[in-house]
Amino acid sequence: MQQAHRIRNLFSAIARHYDFLNSLLSLRFDRVWRRETVNVSGVTPTSKVLDVCTGTGELALAYADKLEMSGSVIGSDFCFEMLVVGKQKVKRQDRTHAFVPIEADTLTLPFADNTFDIVSVGFGIRNVSDLELGIREMTRVAVPGGRIAILEFTQPVNPIFRGLYYFYFTKILPFIGNCISRNKDDAYGYLPRSVLQFPNCDALKDVMEHSGLTDVQYYRKTLGIVAIHVGKKM
Ligand SMILES: C[S@@+](CC[C@H](N)C(=O)[O-])C[C@H]1O[C@@H](n2cnc3c(N)ncnc32)[C@H](O)[C@@H]1O
Repeated sequence: MQQAHRIRNLFSAIARHYDFLNSLLSLRFDRVWRRETVNVSGVTPTSKVLDVCTGTGELALAYADKLEMSGSVIGSDFCFEMLVVGKQKVKRQDRTHAFVPIEADTLTLPFADNTFDIVSVGFGIRNVSDLELGIREMTRVAVPGGRIAILEFTQPVNPIFRGLYYFYFTKILPFIGNCISRNKDDAYGYLPRSVLQFPNCDALKDVMEHSGLTDVQYYRKTLGIVAIHVGKKM
């Protein structure tokens, strides 16, 4: 509970700068990673998609790009301020109907069992206080045969690249992020700390299989900075 409260406060403090800093600090790779997540998740033009921990809705919007009128996207998050920034953004872009934002905790989703063809999460599951419970809850609301797609930072495999990347990730990124967002609580220092504590690709695959998913595959992207895991609900 305490962790959830802390995480919600952290994201409400940086909400206004979140999209800009994401693009800047990832050199715009974040958009490529989200598009790739959509592509490997088995989306069809008529899919019903739920994007949890949607924040400002970037992954939800990447899904919306692939859908026809009969498809739909809901983006849920427990941080009101992130959802507000997302709503202002879609209004500016004249895409108000691209996805429906809903305030909800990923650990207790307000949806019936077997509702969505795809349940996705981008850079969010690492923040959920109980990883397995979060994945179980995502799985509960997916239809049998539906897909769970998880985009998350991971640890690069190549030791030389890993050394260089960690220098950027643990020293330069927090400095720039905290300066631009004027965050005094080291919100951008939390990012590398949480990634270094997060299970590696094989361990996350194990948790997904343990949570009722089958055919779990993962794809490392950009020298293993991020990985996309996709599993099927039995
Ligand atoms: C790093 S942001 C990711 C936003 C977005 N998915 C993206 O691709 O950029 C993580 C988001 O997860 C949300 N979050 C963390 N724990 C959550 C929970 N238990 N329930 C709902 N949202 C949660 C935070 O509020 C935050 O908006």
